[in-house]
Amino acid sequence: MKRIKLNKKHKNKDSNRWLNRHLNDEYVRKSKIDGYRSRSSYKLIQINEKYDFLKNSFKIVDLGCSPGGWLQVVRELSPRSSKVIGFDLISLKEIPDIKFYKIDVNESEIFEKIDSFFEKKKIDLLLSDMSPNSSGNKKVDHLRIVSIIERVLEIAEKSLKKNGFLVAKIFQGGAQGDLILKMKKTLDSIQYFKPKASRSESPETYLVARKK
Ligand SMILES: C[S@@+](CC[C@H](N)C(=O)[O-])C[C@H]1O[C@@H](n2cnc3c(N)ncnc32)[C@H](O)[C@@H]1O
Repeated sequence: MKRIKLNKKHKNKDSNRWLNRHLNDEYVRKSKIDGYRSRSSYKLIQINEKYDFLKNSFKIVDLGCSPGGWLQVVRELSPRSSKVIGFDLISLKEIPDIKFYKIDVNESEIFEKIDSFFEKKKIDLLLSDMSPNSSGNKKVDHLRIVSIIERVLEIAEKSLKKNGFLVAKIFQGGAQGDLILKMKKTLDSIQYFKPKASRSESPETYLVARKK
């Protein structure tokens, strides 16, 4: 495959190392061809290939859904009649038949939105690809990671049906002590899976579990 080269003027700049890697990334190229909004789409495709939850999911929530790569996959692989709602801090370019709210998932109104969209019925699948912005301080970042997962667990506890699937991004070192206890209180069949599309140097992995 032809590699994209940056010109001389750019070569010495550190920031262009990221750009260089991005432009030559297999999944970035593939997403352009397949019409996906992000390379993250392939992570969900690969997680679903292993655990096969999308085909039986009729009520789906996606936390941290922008720019919408996972939502596109959900639309393709879940039943035609499935109802899907996404939330993010940043806007989402419209996707047909998907309800979106631009809100922080920590806002309490998220429960009203979920309840009203699904007419108070529990959901089959809760997805979260949320990651905190890096502060540069390891301790602060760790607390942010833990707080995101705690919030995902709260939403799973209230909204996910018994045996419903949870797929959530988690970071190595994020699941320790109290958090593991909280997970075990809410979830069963806890597994961790790192899809091929997740960069090997990234500490991210995915938690795949069923609601107790
Ligand atoms: C890696 S991106 C998700 C990519 C998405 N899965 C896709 O395939 O296009 C993570 C997203 O989580 C969102 N996010 C992080 N914290 C959030 C929060 N507290 N509430 C809502 N969204 C949040 C970010 O704004 C960002 O858009």
